[in-house]
Amino acid sequence: MEKIVILTGAGISAESGLGTFRDEDGLWAKHRIEDVATPEGFARDPALVHGFYNARRVQAAEAPPNEAHKALARLQRDFRGEVVIVTQNVDSLHEAGGAQNLIHMHGTLAGALCAACGHRWTSPPEMVVGERCPACNIPSARPDVVWFGEMPYHMDAIYDHLASATLFAAIGTSGQVYPAAAFVHEARMSGAQTVELNLAPSDGASSFDQVILGPASETVPSWVEGLLG
Ligand code: APR
Repeated sequence: MEKIVILTGAGISAESGLGTFRDEDGLWAKHRIEDVATPEGFARDPALVHGFYNARRVQAAEAPPNEAHKALARLQRDFRGEVVIVTQNVDSLHEAGGAQNLIHMHGTLAGALCAACGHRWTSPPEMVVGERCPACNIPSARPDVVWFGEMPYHMDAIYDHLASATLFAAIGTSGQVYPAAAFVHEARMSGAQTVELNLAPSDGASSFDQVILGPASETVPSWVEGLLG
């Protein structure tokens, strides 16, 4: 059976109004990764970190899915084989666009996680310092997002999918963050065809069989039309 595994990054949500990380004027030009996206940063200044994610949660909740998110959901519905989306994004725009088979490898802004007992629940719009876990009552609630130095979620399932992929696509990701940046190599080893769809060639562009350049809201729908014939 044909199986498409699609990795998405911040570029797919850019045209929904959400900033990317490493583009000019991206999030990492305005905030220091070590301050807002590491466990050490959270231990040092939890209010700063909550403030960063609260702002992004509000922004993400207001953003609409764009034609790229919708096209991938259409592909999942209408393709003759299996289509798995693995996203590095913590927004919920794939879900809002209708995606079904979706893995959030870097967690989600919609979730809260207890750093003490591992319990997960739906995040309130604003998380505050000292918020208690509903399961163990310890005040160690944190956003359920994967920070630098932490292991991304669902890696066993993702590697299983890559091992049986016949086509691998990376959409809107700069290829600078591992392990996601190495998925193209895993897919190639499994014999999958590989394609990158990005605004400009990513760091790993030479590892792909095909590179399609342009804004995701245009390239993704036409790529999907091609696959659906
Ligand atoms: N259409 C397609 N691609 C786009 C668009 C667009 N409209 N706008 C920007 N891009 C591309 C950029 O050219 C860039 O290659 O999207 C990519 C975004 O790269 P990054 O900002 O590095 O985002 P991403 O690859 O998702 O980052 C990976 O880094 O900080 C962490 O955890 C965070 O999940 C994130 C991870």
